[in-house]
Amino acid sequence: MCGIFGCVLNDGSPAAPLIHSSLKKLEYRGYDSVGIATLSDGKIFIKKDQGKIDEVDKILNLDDMPGSIGIGHTRWATHGAPLKVNSHPHTDCTGEIVVVHNGIIENFLELKSELQNLGHEFVSKTDTEVMPHLIEENMKRNPQLSLEQAVLESLKRVEGSYAFAIISTREPDKIICARNESPLVLGVNHKGVFCASDIPAFLDVTNKAVMINNGELVILDASGYRIKKISDGTAVTREPITVEWTAEMAVKQGYPHFMIKEIHEQPEVLRNTLRIQDHYLDLLSTFLDRANEVFFVACGTSYHACLAASYMFSKLSFLPTFPVYGSEFVEQCGKSVSIDTTMLAVSQSGETADTIAAVTCAQQRAATVLSLTNVIGSTMTRISRVYIGTQAGPEIGVAATKTFTSQLSVLAQLALKLSKKRGKISQDEIDCLEESLQKLPDKVETIVKTQEEKVKQIAKKYANAKVFFFLGRGISTATAYEARLKLMEIAYIPSIAFPAGESKHGPISLIENGFPVVFICPRDETHKTIIGNIMEMKARGAHIIAVVEEGDVDIKSLADDYIEVPKGIPSILSPIAYIVPLQLLAYFVALERSLNPDMPRNLAKSVTVK
Ligand code: F6R
Repeated sequence: MCGIFGCVLNDGSPAAPLIHSSLKKLEYRGYDSVGIATLSDGKIFIKKDQGKIDEVDKILNLDDMPGSIGIGHTRWATHGAPLKVNSHPHTDCTGEIVVVHNGIIENFLELKSELQNLGHEFVSKTDTEVMPHLIEENMKRNPQLSLEQAVLESLKRVEGSYAFAIISTREPDKIICARNESPLVLGVNHKGVFCASDIPAFLDVTNKAVMINNGELVILDASGYRIKKISDGTAVTREPITVEWTAEMAVKQGYPHFMIKEIHEQPEVLRNTLRIQDHYLDLLSTFLDRANEVFFVACGTSYHACLAASYMFSKLSFLPTFPVYGSEFVEQCGKSVSIDTTMLAVSQSGETADTIAAVTCAQQRAATVLSLTNVIGSTMTRISRVYIGTQAGPEIGVAATKTFTSQLSVLAQLALKLSKKRGKISQDEIDCLEESLQKLPDKVETIVKTQEEKVKQIAKKYANAKVFFFLGRGISTATAYEARLKLMEIAYIPSIAFPAGESKHGPISLIENGFPVVFICPRDETHKTIIGNIMEMKARGAHIIAVVEEGDVDIKSLADDYIEVPKGIPSILSPIAYIVPLQLLAYFVALERSLNPDMPRNLAKSVTVK
């Protein structure tokens, strides 16, 4: 997730100060590097560097650039570390074609090597850089092509998601934009036209917006905007709408809180995790393949992702893995770490002090440290041997939601990759799991669309409960722990989570009439046994709230309330779907209790002290 902005001003005023202030409003989409390019007297001017916008501005004075046309970018690194060289804008070999991009070009390696063979020189590690070179190549091959035609030709080769804004000295009066799966919106007023990843970028300047759809190309110039279909170039007529949002509402895209916005972003985020370059998964799984045992180290929600992953790796790749809390690692395992140890550290922020301390301990004892994080450029990416990004984009709500499901998706892909390497499960099973992974974003979308109202009603019913139980078996134990953490941290209801089988060994003594017990019940090998566990709880007066597979009449008939998840999700992937209604439950219970879910008391997004 990055933010792009561009403007064509028709009153001769400089574009750079507006691009700068608009990028500040998009900083919530990414903030590890920033860059601006403007066009003046047929020349390109570029300023860019790694760092937050204010830091870079202090050094480069971003406002001081000539020209009334320009584009800008605030970055959240996915391909290539947050370094100046990887910051947008990116240019072709001649420096005449300049591109900013939000999204992921899936086939960039293939395009890059093809272009390199044709003599193009690349300077960055980004996927984006292929685009200016593709346009350059198309214009070289066919000098009659206009910039617009060359962009269209180039888009034919690009696979993946994008919102592009492109300027060139060859046609210095315009910006060309294109969209596929990454957001793009136009703003218009009497002073000019603007393109951006999101409305807040220009809301100070205008509240007249034009939404751009997937598969559309836009030409912005002093006369306004023209929209065309990328597929066949036909013109599209679309009038601006008036946006009634305040700036604060706009950043949250109309949602009342970041947490609910981020819960709703999960289908898109999961789609992005499926675009991770195969060679990263391959590299990490090669390290895991060499290991006899692996420590998964993390805190909080990330620890729950590790717990789920331990089931995935055992079942799919027959690899024993040990989830350990970052804060306990040194005491619990420190002395047993050696050159033969492999650690996979998982952290959204990449800065959690306890996880970093565990990584440091492992490094000092010559272990191999791999990591999974959402923040490329964080401490964790700098100190681990190999890392992989979770592609979730910045998460602002304190409670982790989309980063949890994105971690799970990447971990599942890694486990599958290793499984293939080790040949431990049949090809049919692998094909089936891969297909299920591809379908998961749509299934999560269905859950959010169809179950939200129901969850709201359940939240109303139980909002005054004094305590909650969350129970699951097998991999659903991890879902139970995570659901309990969500409810506890934002709704302040003391909650207990256990593997359902363990509940008989003590916790069941707490149960009395009306005690809410949430059961996570995918239709997997644990299904029969969990019915027994539900019966035990019911017999003692518990109120059963079950998260079940659609059409699971056995459990639905036992439950006081139930939430349904679409059919056909394999057990190993079930936490990715089954956690979603429980994130919603925590959110709506917090609202019922008049709490702000985005800012739970005593908590910080990133815990950088031990
Ligand atoms: C819970 C939550 C925290 C974090 C934990 C680890 O909703 O967000 O429990 O999961 O502080 O943070 P990272 O993943 O940044 O290491």
